[in-house]
Amino acid sequence: MVVTTGSDGITPREGWSSRSAFILAAVGSAVGLGNMWRFPAEAGENGGGAFVLFYILCVLLIGLPVLLSEVLIGRHGQSNAPESVRRVAAESGKSGRWAILADFGVLGAFLVLSFYCVVGGWVLYYIGIFAGDLVTTGLSGGAFQGRPPEEIENLLPALFDNGALMVVLHIVFLAITLFFVARGISSGIEWVATWLMPTFFLLFLAITIYGATTGGFGEAMAYLFTFDFSRLTGPVMLAAVGQAFFSLSLGVAGMMTYGAYVGRDVNLASTSGIIAGADTAVALIAGLCIFPIVFAAGLEASAGPGLMFQSLPIAFRDMPFGSLIGLLFFVMVFFAALTSSVSLLEAPTAWFKDRAGLPRAVATTIVAGSALVLGALAAWFWGTPVAGIAELGLFEGQDLFNVLDTLTSKVLMPVGAILTSLFVGWVASRRLIDSENGLSGGLHHFWLFLVRWFCPLMLAIILLGGIFPEATEAVFAIFGG
Ligand code: TRP
Repeated sequence: MVVTTGSDGITPREGWSSRSAFILAAVGSAVGLGNMWRFPAEAGENGGGAFVLFYILCVLLIGLPVLLSEVLIGRHGQSNAPESVRRVAAESGKSGRWAILADFGVLGAFLVLSFYCVVGGWVLYYIGIFAGDLVTTGLSGGAFQGRPPEEIENLLPALFDNGALMVVLHIVFLAITLFFVARGISSGIEWVATWLMPTFFLLFLAITIYGATTGGFGEAMAYLFTFDFSRLTGPVMLAAVGQAFFSLSLGVAGMMTYGAYVGRDVNLASTSGIIAGADTAVALIAGLCIFPIVFAAGLEASAGPGLMFQSLPIAFRDMPFGSLIGLLFFVMVFFAALTSSVSLLEAPTAWFKDRAGLPRAVATTIVAGSALVLGALAAWFWGTPVAGIAELGLFEGQDLFNVLDTLTSKVLMPVGAILTSLFVGWVASRRLIDSENGLSGGLHHFWLFLVRWFCPLMLAIILLGGIFPEATEAVFAIFGG
């Protein structure tokens, strides 16, 4: 237990019990629906190879340095995200107004939480379907004995048509998240991470090995890793950066919040590397599990949000022990999603609890209750374009669920990351940064260069290019591009 005092200066602050507990919790936060569900969907919608390779570059050159910056601010500030920023600024003799970058972050995490739990509800639905199937068809053959693929594909649209069921499932998933966050860091969030993440990795390994032997692997490799420069448009680049932030839990105060619970003895640089590496490996492997099935079953790679939920069940139909494997798969996704949703709830909770001076359980319940309402609206109005917003370029034709997704990953996260890197690169004092970041020599200078220049500039360009593709293309044309 790390014993430092909390915001009142008297009671001991909560913290992770060890370095490995922090790594499991942070990897747990990073690895989630973003890897298993959103990454394949985004890759497919954005044409495969160009998106994937640009995504990997984003993780290395932007995600990783920003991840280190966020954890660093959190650990130095030892408080909720805005307060941590304020403390780092004060110690550097700078304005506390910089805390606004984390205020927006806390809001962003809350918005992600509300639609994340809707998808968590879909996962619960599929757990129910496969559990039921296991009971009726037994262990022997594949899942959904004899039912045609179209019928299995239709399970998801049928759920989408049932707004009430989606709302109920969303509430159940959110309630489970609330239960663990209300218990606090070491006995709630850390408990979830230390039990569920190792189980997740075991199941993930088993299902991947199993899947790799079923064919279609080569086509998926070619699809995901063939780089076609002409497909790398402004919107594709913004989608890739947004996905990198979403997947690494960056830009909206998530990792800043977790960083505050890290002990002084932990090397933040190497730990950030482990987190980013594990997260990226899981996303790529998830893609290599899902796309072979997509191609083999003749599904559309650009199917979007439905991809994971529609393609894999078709594969489970044809596998021996299909119902059991399907059940295990969705249980595994549920574990990954839960270790992420607790971090999404923790960021606004930590802020609200300190700000309003409330006990943790009360603060958690109020934040979760608000996310319940917003998520329920997103589920209920599924497919209904939001009047007044769905006319704008970036949000064209989107319902509330997708507006929340786009607003967070394509606006709030990149803007949050620009401000975070500027803050760490230019505002925070060098002495403070040097004592926290765990880097030395050339790597230290490279990281400084990235947060000072590369990340803010590249992100600004990508943001503009993604939001105003025509204008950006016109500018490139002037320069002979
Ligand atoms: N990274 C998680 C995933 O990939 C989602 C997530 C958890 C998140 N915490 C976050 C996203 C904080 C943004 C900010 O599923």
